[in-house]
Amino acid sequence: MNRFIVGVTGASGAIYATRVAMHLKRLGHAVTAIVTAPGREVMEYEGELRFFDYCEKVCDVQDYFAECASGSADYAGMAVVPCSMGTLGRIASGTSDNLLVRTADVCLKERRKLVIVPREMPYNLIHIENMERVTRAGAVVIPASPQFYNKPSSIEELVDTVVAKVLKHLGVEDGIVPAWTGDENRGVAK
Ligand SMILES: Cc1cc2nc3c(=O)[nH]c(=O)nc-3n(C[C@H](O)[C@H](O)[C@H](O)COP(=O)(O)O)c2cc1C
Repeated sequence: MNRFIVGVTGASGAIYATRVAMHLKRLGHAVTAIVTAPGREVMEYEGELRFFDYCEKVCDVQDYFAECASGSADYAGMAVVPCSMGTLGRIASGTSDNLLVRTADVCLKERRKLVIVPREMPYNLIHIENMERVTRAGAVVIPASPQFYNKPSSIEELVDTVVAKVLKHLGVEDGIVPAWTGDENRGVAK
């Protein structure tokens, strides 16, 4: 069992956060949540408050006394999912001006896994430069770009194609999306 932080911001796609937390819990891990104020509003608007059902602990986004604000806490990693361009910029600039951004900063300084799932389109140059910056600092950027070649039959299955990548880069084996074997297209008429 490992402990993970799931940070949720005011970008669209709260379902990604719900399913990351749901699968982590299902696989026996513990989730600590940090949700920004816009994150909570968008989560509510998108009907995803069940996210909290999968969290062992929820930290106030202004509580710098929280355990995860310190590098000494034994968290295995953090996912910021979905990540707004505002929070991406704050992480890239090292502002540490709320607990979510501070905890991401801690993950980078402690060389822990930090997965960032940006959600915006199109990107401007500032967004792209911020993604480069966090990548250089050690984060893995996994855009909310679901894949269709597994032929998902529901929104949940489609969302899980992104969630599977997030879990993989957190070091969690999930098995929720079958790996591509190369044999999938054999026998399909050309
Ligand atoms: C319904 C809704 C959807 C939004 N979707 C996005 C989005 O996909 N990406 C983004 O960067 N901002 C999005 N925003 C704007 C952010 O919520 C806003 O920039 C906010 O300040 C982000 O704050 P945070 O990073 O502290 O959560 C959305 C806002 C609303 C109300």
